[in-house]
Amino acid sequence: MKLSKRLKAICDLIPKNSNVVDVGADHAFLDIYLNKYKNCNCLAIDKSKYCTNTAINNAQKFNAHIKAVTNDGLNNIKLNDEIIVISGMGTKNIQKILNFDIKNDLILSSHTNIEDLKQFLKEKHYYIDKELIISDGKTYNIIYAKKGGAS
Ligand SMILES: C[S@@+](CC[C@H](N)C(=O)[O-])C[C@H]1O[C@@H](n2cnc3c(N)ncnc32)[C@H](O)[C@@H]1O
Repeated sequence: MKLSKRLKAICDLIPKNSNVVDVGADHAFLDIYLNKYKNCNCLAIDKSKYCTNTAINNAQKFNAHIKAVTNDGLNNIKLNDEIIVISGMGTKNIQKILNFDIKNDLILSSHTNIEDLKQFLKEKHYYIDKELIISDGKTYNIIYAKKGGAS
């Protein structure tokens, strides 16, 4: 399957066999790719039931094994060691979704106010392990952030 340059860049940051929670998954192409080509265990979350149904149909079409649920952000989602991906939404929404005692690795691609997002991460005691700028028609910023001090 062919992913956009932006989604492929996110997938390239994720190690094989990872557990992934993708918030705002929409079509779930990222999760399908990660399951099929990197053997990841993926939970695709979207607040829209229509998107969840599309994700389930896409997974069947591509013969991928992912879970897809309709949910508002990470509310009531039990987290362990998953990498959390949030891409394709604005900083305010990302902040709302992560507004709890978060510890997981984060991959974030906001289309607004990147500096506010970086400030938010600092306040949450995260450091930026990697930052990519991807040109794909528009320019996209992708941040891999980890809890704690930079190593
Ligand atoms: C533009 S799409 C991005 C799709 C994909 N992540 C990407 O990067 O191409 C944004 C998606 O986020 C979902 N979304 C927005 N706020 C959300 C929330 N609080 N919880 C779950 N999904 C949310 C929307 O329903 C929409 O499907």
